[in-house]
Amino acid sequence: MFKLTGKTAVITGGGSGIGRAIALLFAKQGAAVHIIELNADAGQGVVAEIEQAGGQAQVHAADVSQQAAVVAVFQAVGRVDVLVNNAGIAHVGNVETTSEADFERVYQVNVKGAYNCLFAAVPLMKAQGGGAIVNMASIAAHVGLTDRLAYSMSKGAIFAMTLSVARDYLGSNIRCNSISPARVHTPFVDGFIAKNYAGKEAEIFEKLSHSQPIGRMGQPDEVAALALYLASDEAGFVTGCDYPLDGGFIKLNT
Ligand SMILES: NC(=O)c1ccc[n+]([C@@H]2O[C@H](COP(=O)([O-])OP(=O)(O)OC[C@H]3O[C@@H](n4cnc5c(N)ncnc54)[C@H](O)[C@@H]3O)[C@@H](O)[C@H]2O)c1
Repeated sequence: MFKLTGKTAVITGGGSGIGRAIALLFAKQGAAVHIIELNADAGQGVVAEIEQAGGQAQVHAADVSQQAAVVAVFQAVGRVDVLVNNAGIAHVGNVETTSEADFERVYQVNVKGAYNCLFAAVPLMKAQGGGAIVNMASIAAHVGLTDRLAYSMSKGAIFAMTLSVARDYLGSNIRCNSISPARVHTPFVDGFIAKNYAGKEAEIFEKLSHSQPIGRMGQPDEVAALALYLASDEAGFVTGCDYPLDGGFIKLNT
């Protein structure tokens, strides 16, 4: 079960954290993996890991917010069975402390970046007779989090685009789902703590761990396992769904 043999998978932001775990697992399951990365060195590092394990992978240096570059990458890849829209950035702030530039930056990567990849991938999937899309949303799409104005905006948009694409391409055999993780321990989290809570890293790490009722952060591999299920043929009946992967954050935080 959950084999991706013979499939081509494009993973954005596959050079780090959750995207890296997805790239490694998809390659292990037989997919030819294409990583779209702003940080080409990080992407190349993951490609080397995959090749060392006997898998097949390639990195494409591109900024997902740039449509022409994204379209060129997808044209070069040629066939896309699975798209994982994972690249994302964070911002901490409420409406008063989020500048226009902050809002725009988060929008460009998290919203427009995902749209650009959908724009490029869906025609290829249609022409091939189908495909599976997994979008990385967040609990921020579903609950009110403190100081996450721009980030919540972007993840709410991911959730809404997931429904829209799932609806529009029911007849084209393209499934589209999203995953909404709570805090997952990745460089994204370490960078966020270092940037916003310098000197209080250990204390904040503990606090963030316990904001999940289960008492810890998630692991990238745990997100990758769900992404694999949603990308696989075994999930053929699943579309237009969002899957919280949150240690009880949404339903058990009483
Ligand atoms: N880590 C968490 O707690 C958490 C929780 C919920 C959702 N998410 C979401 O999961 C996704 C991955 O998060 P992560 O924690 O693995 O992050 P990360 O920072 O470890 O990795 C993100 C990767 O995306 C790449 N990237 C950033 N901007 C890009 C761009 N414009 N074009 C191409 N690549 C770009 C980065 O170079 C990096 O390699 C994000 O969408 C994030 O919002 C993360």
